[in-house]
Amino acid sequence: NIDLKGRDYLTLKDYSPDEIKYLIDLSLNIKQKEKNGERDYPLQGKSLAMIFQKSSTRTRVSFEVGMYQLGGNALFLSPKELQMGRGETIGDTAQVLSRFVDGIMIRTFDQAEVEELATYASVPVINGLTDSYHPTQALADMMTILEHKGKLEGIKLAYIGDGNNMTNSLMIVGAKLGMEVRVATPVGYEPETEVVNYAKCIAEEQGGNIIITNDPKEAVRGADALYTDTWISMGQENDREEKINHFKGFQLNKELVELASKEAIILHCLPAHRGEEITDEIMDGPRSVVFDEAENRLHAHKGILAALL
Ligand code: CP
Ligand code: NVA
Repeated sequence: NIDLKGRDYLTLKDYSPDEIKYLIDLSLNIKQKEKNGERDYPLQGKSLAMIFQKSSTRTRVSFEVGMYQLGGNALFLSPKELQMGRGETIGDTAQVLSRFVDGIMIRTFDQAEVEELATYASVPVINGLTDSYHPTQALADMMTILEHKGKLEGIKLAYIGDGNNMTNSLMIVGAKLGMEVRVATPVGYEPETEVVNYAKCIAEEQGGNIIITNDPKEAVRGADALYTDTWISMGQENDREEKINHFKGFQLNKELVELASKEAIILHCLPAHRGEEITDEIMDGPRSVVFDEAENRLHAHKGILAALL
């Protein structure tokens, strides 16, 4: 008997394993219906405001199309057009938007801004990526792994690359779902200790495991799913040269992938920087599910929207 109506979707830390599983099931259900050409319109007459302080292809299009397919409407708001860009506070913006719309999705830099928006908004707030978390992507990722591997509990997921927003969200949701999440980063690029410790605690409760290492081979060996993300996240463009040098040996290529389970799947949240964190051969190879994963953003967002709004 799970009811998520009115809830925020900020980090997934406050969601129970059952609530996350419910969202995954709901999203898979909505996906199946869409494939069968059946649509119902639970969000008829409802609107979602979408604030983007950073670029987006997948998140923007999938939330916008998702709202439409659910019978609702989405508004794309860029900071240049909002009064927020001229100094109107987040709190005031949240209170005003709450009088007009039924939910707010925001992509921005500082997680604190999303939390502040949620504090002042009286409608659900959805985190569409911050420097710290990317929880809507993580839900689509779990859906994708479940579809291809038939289960989540006990799955060994190896994340290779930068300890970033994606790493944090994968550790949190992976731990909640009883997975073994192995993270391999270069020295100095490990995920935040606070999130690692949190995920380790949850993993222990759920029979999962969190492993942090600087050895990509150790992480990949025998894994069921391999995941990577850009080495240069949005906002880090100035660190590019320095970072690229530190990430040698952390590319998902043939040599590394061969150490994984023979049936291992390859995930990437995209956009990919081909030739950097992943080779064309792996990205376009038979084990890659990156475009299924991208498609699942649409279905997962519809699940989130239908449940919360
Ligand atoms: N994966 C993801 O969030 O992609 P966009 O930046 O294109 O939204
Ligand atoms: N870590 C990447 C994810 C992009 C979807 C970034 O923050 O740019």
